[in-house]
Amino acid sequence: MELTDPYGRTINYLRLSVTDRCNMRCLYCMPADGIPLLSHGDILSYEELLLIATTAVAAGIEKIRVTGGEPLVRRGIVPFLARLAAIPGLRQLVLTTNGLFLEEMAESLREAGVQRLNISLDSLKPETFAAVTRGGDLHRVLAGIAAAERAGFPVKINMVVMRGVNDRELLDFAALTLDRPLTVRFIEYMPAIRADNWEARIVPGEEILDRIGARFSFSPLERDTAAGPARIFRIDGAAGSIGVITPVSGHFCGECNRIRVTSAGRARSCLFADTGLDLKPLLARGDQEGLAAALRTVVARKPGRHSLAAEEQQHTPFAMSAIGG
Ligand code: 5AD
Ligand code: SF4
Repeated sequence: MELTDPYGRTINYLRLSVTDRCNMRCLYCMPADGIPLLSHGDILSYEELLLIATTAVAAGIEKIRVTGGEPLVRRGIVPFLARLAAIPGLRQLVLTTNGLFLEEMAESLREAGVQRLNISLDSLKPETFAAVTRGGDLHRVLAGIAAAERAGFPVKINMVVMRGVNDRELLDFAALTLDRPLTVRFIEYMPAIRADNWEARIVPGEEILDRIGARFSFSPLERDTAAGPARIFRIDGAAGSIGVITPVSGHFCGECNRIRVTSAGRARSCLFADTGLDLKPLLARGDQEGLAAALRTVVARKPGRHSLAAEEQQHTPFAMSAIGG
């Protein structure tokens, strides 16, 4: 089976959020006072999430990324991941995490069948890290990254680049790839919650590459088709690679291959386009055919591109933690 949208894009990637809770409060993700959290009863159960995943894979999804909030704060996550990994036809199971619990959990995540980890890391300086995450402990995340590498995970580090906040560290992050087989991905800051002064914070992808290029020479790498929207490069002689993701300045929408399901059970076609379709009534009835039809509806509703550019700001602000990064 294949899921194809009205623009001819093949949709084979599901981002599945398992919780809206998080043990950090990143500036770009949440307002300072947090967000109203769902009550436990409103969060999909693991059984419901598995039914969605199984249905999605039968419909054509090949890759699932588990996201949050912070997925590792949900109790029972490891056995759930093992069950996800066992879905016949699922080719890739990957996870995004802030890394705080990785030191303890990396090994068991590997055993559960998670194939790759994306770890959010926005600064290598403890004070800046604490400021960006509103209190996060850099040392725990660095220990978590080391544990993930020891457990044999291919690791991607996601840095959200913010002018005047962490952009002085671009070269330090690029240099992490020199002797470790890491991928560092520089992500343009997106005005998801429409924080004050967001325009001034954006460092366009081209500028990120220019600034790194002033110090290191690098050349483009072939992208694999499931790689998502990053443009990737290798610094000459480096063990790892760097990538840049330009949700704001570059329209990668043409290659978008994803849909999302939030922890509250809403299936969404695009971060910036719709509020989603409620899967809960179908889940309550165990209606797998209805679920499959709902997923196809969401795919059919995918917009050709988002309207994130400043002059056409239209979306309702949202906390990424509630949708799944
Ligand atoms: N801009 C860019 N990336 C974001 N993420 C979350 N919020 C934003 C934002 N406003 C991404 C980051 C983070 C992951 C959880 O989601 O990559 O590491
Ligand atoms: Fe938590 Fe990730 Fe949001 Fe930071 S970006 S508050 S770590 S969900």
